[in-house]
Amino acid sequence: MNIKGKIVTLRAVDYEDMELMRGMLNDPEMEKLVIGWSFPVSATEQEKWFASAIQDKNNLRFVIETLNDGAIGIATLSGIDWKNRRATHGIKLINRRTRQKGVGTDTVMAIMRYAFDELNLNRLDGSWFEDNIPSQKLYTKCGWSVEGCKRDYIYKNGHYRNLIIVGILKTDYEHLIQENHYWESEEK
Ligand SMILES: CC(C)(COP(=O)(O)OP(=O)(O)OC[C@H]1O[C@@H](n2cnc3c(N)ncnc32)[C@H](O)[C@@H]1OP(=O)(O)O)[C@@H](O)C(=O)NCCC(=O)NCCS
Repeated sequence: MNIKGKIVTLRAVDYEDMELMRGMLNDPEMEKLVIGWSFPVSATEQEKWFASAIQDKNNLRFVIETLNDGAIGIATLSGIDWKNRRATHGIKLINRRTRQKGVGTDTVMAIMRYAFDELNLNRLDGSWFEDNIPSQKLYTKCGWSVEGCKRDYIYKNGHYRNLIIVGILKTDYEHLIQENHYWESEEK
């Protein structure tokens, strides 16, 4: 089942998406904004990763697609903990042209609806660097709360950076959609 937002479709990653994903992994500008390793990724390495990744139902990755632009990013639900009913969520949109048009908001809303109403999760975790204003605005708008700050947690660009820890509960999401009526204008 693909996951539908109002403007995005979140679908399974396919072999053809490897180039898109490799492009994002190897993009130095993107690397500055996200947590993770800074090694260049080769096509060969990615092929091996893909073979195991598509069977891994505890770490889900979705390609973000819109009608106008096609595949423009990746959203994740990773480290799914089925007992405690939580997962970590992340998002990357491919380039600046695709940003600030509501794609991030629609993706996060769709991920939350899927996580809470389909997978029956109770909580999502996230994080951002304290100077990542787009992330801060996006997740605050989508009802996420700041729960802490891990000081000097990630080393990038020659210095340690603080990581803001955020989360949202299923009840927060339900409260949000009651207030913003997000899905009421959904096209049928
Ligand atoms: C973070 C990201 C997903 C946001 O996606 P997006 O499609 O631009 O988000 P939206 O268009 O839905 O915007 C959400 C809110 O953030 C605000 N916003 C987004 N980018 C902004 C920017 N560069 N400056 C100021 N505000 C910004 C929007 O104005 C909007 O708020 P509003 O509705 O009150 O006006 C996107 O910038 C991205 O992929 N960045 C690179 C990777 C990254 O940082 N990932 C997150 C790591 S934690």
